[in-house]
Amino acid sequence: MDYFLYKNGQLHAEDVAVAEIAKAVGTPFYLYSAATFRRHFRLFEEALAGMDHLICYAMKANGNLAILKLMADLGAGIDVVSGGEYAKARAAGVPGDRIVFSGVGKTPAEMKLALTGGIRQFNVESEPELMALSRVATSLGKIAPITIRVNPDVDAKTHAKIATGKSENKFGIPIAKARAAYQQAAALPGIEVVGIDVHIGSQLTDLAPYEAAFNKVADLTHQLRADGHNIKRLDLGGGLGIPYERSNEAPPLPIEYGEVVRRTVGDLGCEIEIEPGRLIAGNAGILVASVIYLKHGEGRDFLILDAAMNDLIRPAMYEAHHDIIPVVEPVPGTEQSLVDIVGPVCESGDTFAKQRNMAPLQADDLVAFRSAGAYGAVMASEYNARPLIPEVLVEGDQFAVIRARPSFEEMINRDTMPVWL
Ligand code: LLP
Repeated sequence: MDYFLYKNGQLHAEDVAVAEIAKAVGTPFYLYSAATFRRHFRLFEEALAGMDHLICYAMKANGNLAILKLMADLGAGIDVVSGGEYAKARAAGVPGDRIVFSGVGKTPAEMKLALTGGIRQFNVESEPELMALSRVATSLGKIAPITIRVNPDVDAKTHAKIATGKSENKFGIPIAKARAAYQQAAALPGIEVVGIDVHIGSQLTDLAPYEAAFNKVADLTHQLRADGHNIKRLDLGGGLGIPYERSNEAPPLPIEYGEVVRRTVGDLGCEIEIEPGRLIAGNAGILVASVIYLKHGEGRDFLILDAAMNDLIRPAMYEAHHDIIPVVEPVPGTEQSLVDIVGPVCESGDTFAKQRNMAPLQADDLVAFRSAGAYGAVMASEYNARPLIPEVLVEGDQFAVIRARPSFEEMINRDTMPVWL
């Protein structure tokens, strides 16, 4: 559930009319609900209640500083995947001992940044990374706490571009090689083994792959302990899916996911970490856009919006569905018709939805893309020299711009001219 609801025929974010924000900020823009972010975080807290745990919000889903602070204030840890994300998490006030560092290609500079700034653990993804981390840590006179990300070879049954737990994916160390990798880790100076990490993919709508993966992690925990390793922490990754198409999707709830965690790894005496991103941020945000034109084509109508693929790439990149709703609620019984909903970018791929049933809309009307809070703003670009769109946060009856729209001048001035040109 989220806090984007129609009240008196007008879409609201919590207690603020979306149209009012559009008037103040201009479209397109991202709009987030603080209450929804908090609610989703608490769902995971409830799901893991009674188990020693830390919810490490995967900031790749939405890394705005205000969102990070909101999460940190709830006691969240943060999952980062780059030096930039680490620096942003710290800038938002997240203590180092609540930051886990994931990612398949951490550089020595990123390792140094985290080791000097403070880190909870590195989730190591290969033997060469293990050696590099040991070298960096030793040179700094530090010990790097690590888990090894194991690849359990389970099919997450999600979109191929966001599945990560099959042996054909680039992620983790094959679970069959894990014992050897842990042996190697234990022998390295500068490395301290603290646990095991696994992440099998994103937008999972079935719990069975989790059950299979976590059972393998439980078995590995016993083996590694027998080998003499101190396995005190299990990082189970993120990935729980959300309903993008509300009329016909009902993915498992955090509480059901929590039951799988409890059943598979709950009695190992380990601290449990999870790294949810999408479930916390996805339905806590919408993208608000205006209709520029309604164009009658050959046998089909096009609704041309002022938002484009550079602002929200998911439909173009993953054929992802986003519900798109009018900001003024259609009166019940309004007849709908089929339209293609597109942006102004010069590519056919700049299509948000094909043959979507919509109530009649005309130029200047506002629409909202639902489920746009995760992997929306963070994946945006300035393609076609379209400045990054603003982000706005609502809390009750107040709202604030948490990232302003750059002017053309600011965008242009980021390029620099060689002296010889
Ligand atoms: N932990 C690790 C190691 C990850 O790679 C990811 C996501 C997460 C946690 C968070 O997963 P979540 O709970 O958000 O599903 N851009 C794609 C999604 C890519 C996900 C990459 N990794 C999209 O728009 O669907």
